[in-house]
Amino acid sequence: MAERKDDRLWGGRFEREPNAQFDAFQRSFAFDRRLLPYEIAVDRAWAKALEPIRIFTATELKQTLAALDKIAERTKTDSAWVESFGASAEDVHHFVEKALVEELGPLGWKLHTGRSRNEVIATDFRLFVMDAAAEMRRGLEALLNAFLLQAKANISVPMAGMTHMQHAQPILLSHFLLAHAEAFTRDITRLQHASASADACPMGSGALAGNSFAIDRNAIARELGFSRITANSLDAVSDRDFALDYLFALAGIATHLSRLAEDFVVFASQEFSYVTLPDEFSTGSSLMPQKKNPDAWELIRGKTGRITGALLSLLTTLKGLPTSYQRDLQEDKEALFGAHDQVEGMVWIAMGALTATKFNADRLRAAASNPVLFATDAADYLVHKGVPFRKAHDLVGQVLREAERQGKPWTQLSLEDVQKISPLFEKDFLDGPSVEDVIANKIVPGGTAPESVRAAIADLEARLSKKTTKTGAKP
Ligand code: ARG
Repeated sequence: MAERKDDRLWGGRFEREPNAQFDAFQRSFAFDRRLLPYEIAVDRAWAKALEPIRIFTATELKQTLAALDKIAERTKTDSAWVESFGASAEDVHHFVEKALVEELGPLGWKLHTGRSRNEVIATDFRLFVMDAAAEMRRGLEALLNAFLLQAKANISVPMAGMTHMQHAQPILLSHFLLAHAEAFTRDITRLQHASASADACPMGSGALAGNSFAIDRNAIARELGFSRITANSLDAVSDRDFALDYLFALAGIATHLSRLAEDFVVFASQEFSYVTLPDEFSTGSSLMPQKKNPDAWELIRGKTGRITGALLSLLTTLKGLPTSYQRDLQEDKEALFGAHDQVEGMVWIAMGALTATKFNADRLRAAASNPVLFATDAADYLVHKGVPFRKAHDLVGQVLREAERQGKPWTQLSLEDVQKISPLFEKDFLDGPSVEDVIANKIVPGGTAPESVRAAIADLEARLSKKTTKTGAKP
């Protein structure tokens, strides 16, 4: 038997060496080394599955597992070795096989029996996504707790609720904060979905057709912490929907964060002055000494573009791909790793900035107390006297027009002025409701009354304590 030219995972049928530039171009170790812990976990599970079918003797299995443990340990503690040894590795699979052969000699070549990198990479990546989703969930939980803390600390501060960026009706600041929190609870549900979508083990699918050694697929899946095996070998090496699902969840989180960021950027402007920016999460200007800028929120808002870009990038890579493994699929990883890292940073910075933000209760209350925000309640006054709402709406509109003409709040019009519009307006009408009354009336579940908001806080706390996300097997 002729000696192999080098230690590649392939090459017997090749006469010439690859072009050096192409060789560098096709290598993936620089980024898929991040999957090393999962690769080694899959190798361990595969080694154990090879013994009952007599590919490995008990001794060979023991030696292989011990070598894998040693390699796992070294990858964690000796980054200089990973760097130098990895310089000649094509990908994460090649790296571990080379290290195994160095430890065990030719026995190291046995582990790849009956399996393909196509199924291994899909398995590694699924395990990564399951862990990433669980990690992201922890970040979102911390963020949700920050919302809960701020909502409780500011439970009865009123603010001017807006639609179309126009003052609309008074609400509680705590209700506003919980609105954002609600969006992030949906993101947790999406993360759980992405994790469930990754939770199927492809091992045993081979390159595309399956495995001819009667390998126990369910045992491998169990060993790795998967709750099921993939159903079709061809689909298993081809499917990256779990990665799309995770990127979609990340894009959802980023989008929600960008909306939160926008609210705080606006609230920190001099026109609003609803919040005082925390020094720890702001920066200054190199020119204008007075400036304190909301850079934490601006960067969160800005980074959202590349997260959405990562989702689009993978969708575009997958579009029109033939069924089965194609090398294009190697392009699935960098964008997802990058998006995960960025969103992780965004979530923790948002959590920190939100926790450190001071709300200017006086400013918020002053804006909420403008009687023009009680116009709907003024119409309700007539509704309680039997006037159909549409008519009441029109009459109060006339009151507001008269107030605008006289240049004063409607509560300061004379009784005569308003009775010209409708005799149903009596003296108590001009007392106007207080901002507290207006808010307290929104007593429905999901409304802004203090009672409803307190119930919403309790409900969110209860939901938070229930949610779970499955994690993949860590070596
Ligand atoms: N590096 C590849 C990827 O990330 C895995 C190996 C693919 N298999 C192959 N025959 N080249 O998808």
